[in-house]
Amino acid sequence: MSQNSENSQPSEALENLLHENRKFPPSAEFAAQALAQPTIYAEAAADREAFWARQSRELLSWSKEFEQTLDWSNPPFARWFVGGEINAAYNALDRHVEAGNGDRVAIYWEGEPGDTRQYTYAQLTEEVKKAANAFEALGVHKGDRVAIYLPMVPEAVISMLACARIGAIHSVVFGGFSAEALRNRIDDAEAKLVITADGTFRRGAPSSLKPAVDTALQAPGHTVKHVIVVKRNGEPVEWVEGRDLWWADTVEVASAEHTPVPHDAEHPLYILYTSGTTGKPKGILHTTGGYLTQTAFTHKYVFDLHPETDVYWCAADIGWVTGHSYIAYAPLVNGASMVMYEGTPDTPHQGRWWEIIEKYKVTILYAAPTAIRTFMKWGRDIPAKFDLSSLKVLGSVGEPINPEAWIWYRDVIGGGKTPIVDTWWQTETGAMMISPLPGVTATKPGSAQIALPGIEADVVDDLGHPVADGQGGYLVIRSPWPSMLRGIWGDPERYKDTYWSRFENMYFAGDGAKKDEDGDIWLLGRVDDVMNVSGHRLSTTEIESALVSHDAVAEAAVVGAADETTGQSVVAFVILRGSALVDGVADPQIEQILRNHVGREIGPIAKPKRVLVVPELPKTRSGKIMRRLLKDIAEGREAGDATTLADAGIMQVISESLKKTP
Ligand code: WT7
Repeated sequence: MSQNSENSQPSEALENLLHENRKFPPSAEFAAQALAQPTIYAEAAADREAFWARQSRELLSWSKEFEQTLDWSNPPFARWFVGGEINAAYNALDRHVEAGNGDRVAIYWEGEPGDTRQYTYAQLTEEVKKAANAFEALGVHKGDRVAIYLPMVPEAVISMLACARIGAIHSVVFGGFSAEALRNRIDDAEAKLVITADGTFRRGAPSSLKPAVDTALQAPGHTVKHVIVVKRNGEPVEWVEGRDLWWADTVEVASAEHTPVPHDAEHPLYILYTSGTTGKPKGILHTTGGYLTQTAFTHKYVFDLHPETDVYWCAADIGWVTGHSYIAYAPLVNGASMVMYEGTPDTPHQGRWWEIIEKYKVTILYAAPTAIRTFMKWGRDIPAKFDLSSLKVLGSVGEPINPEAWIWYRDVIGGGKTPIVDTWWQTETGAMMISPLPGVTATKPGSAQIALPGIEADVVDDLGHPVADGQGGYLVIRSPWPSMLRGIWGDPERYKDTYWSRFENMYFAGDGAKKDEDGDIWLLGRVDDVMNVSGHRLSTTEIESALVSHDAVAEAAVVGAADETTGQSVVAFVILRGSALVDGVADPQIEQILRNHVGREIGPIAKPKRVLVVPELPKTRSGKIMRRLLKDIAEGREAGDATTLADAGIMQVISESLKKTP
């Protein structure tokens, strides 16, 4: 494992981004019915705090009015809507029922094998009340942590909202993470309760989850008292008497009477772990009032949401922040009807998404560029077989969307008429930060363009000075925003160091960016040791740690190499231990062995696409691995400027050795 590599300059990706220079102004028809009006920017800029205060009052029902919009007296620790009290679950559920919308569908759920379930707002409210009662009966109180390790089933949303209702802090762990990763997250958050399922379905076959929980809880010293298990795929499971409980016997039988108690605006809502530049994932902490305000605001205006008529579908997994903000919270707070899908896009056929859109007459689709690029590869004939005319707005999130994919999305999926909103944000920002507004912005393929009203984003140089139009630099946020992270769970220093120390008084996002001639922002990818694979964030250091934890590995360096479909792919360079070589030769299976090892340590998403065995790694005199040079090799280029290497001949040695091992 290495220390941090040198930062790469955010300029490379630019050439291929900028060759598409058409602009797409909103149609008169769309603009006429759009919720956002061009004046909204000036209105927000005139008094940002007043703007957010107004949004918060309009979009949410506060149990107790807040007294102060923002307290920034102790930066970078913000407090929004100070003195206010609110219940997130009440805002997402009960109030819609009270307003007479109990019969509106909240969730159209589509299981992978094609089974379906539907919940109206009244029904979902009832389920959440039962779950809240059940959790309380198990001794879960306000402030306690609950780990949720579930597939894309309605119980995931129900569990999250039940936690929010009683003031417990949920920590959702993506179902694709390993037992080891789950245990680390359970331990860091000191969770009392785990909610899981027997398993789910993946590409037509049952796939298990409960065994990972059992493995995670095998070693003593954890804080978990109970495990609630949703029966989903019916596969047999091991059972720990006294600890394990079926959802059906615990939640479904609980009382459906439950009065929500108001929580402080700054009461923690959830922790969500994300990869940083070190090996240890960060528990990003979000609180209640500001988070709900900005997620609801952006969901309404960026998607032009008309809750009475729209059918919204966010195709993310609940295990990532997109699933938190734009499945579990904002759509429900806004009273929308949404589709939730358990499976993969190619099961049972490659038209599954389009079939779902046709079936439910989806009007708003929110997806990642990786998915779009995959559909492009499968060909336009597949979506052409379905009626996609209901679509009105198409969203993109998670990674830069290349102009080709943007145009394809608009033309093939959106019938050449739908606005595309490319939304930039992060786990840490909690909600969208940079995005066009449909009906207002003339969009540019490949660019997220402008900060949303009430947000101050900028691109600065190494010294923190704003760059001129046409120049590249680092993306920063200049002032606090309502849904900003409130810290890293248990580590306030790391919060300051990671985000607020690179530039004075500015939030450093870790992304490279460029302003074009119009001042519009183009995102150019991470400038730190974080990779983005299929819109999922992975840490080079975390994967390196996993690799060196294997007996055969002496040293490892990981890079994200450009990949046509997934944006980046993980490529690992390893030096094997002498003991792992027979007559100086590695086991021909070593690549597969190490890929599987990473899968076990972190999860299948982190498996390197390639593992290259090398005799040396390129290092500077101070011992830093020059990942830039490894990236050149991984992307099939001649290695670039190697003059700062301690040993100038090393790249030659590495290239030669890779020629020998195909
Ligand atoms: C990183 C955050 C946002 C929720 C899902 C990912 C990259 C995200 C875009 C976009 C270019 C994007 C950035 C960011 N990213 N959206 N529209 N254009 N890049 O959340 O796992 O916290 O990752 O994803 O690099 O820093 P995350």
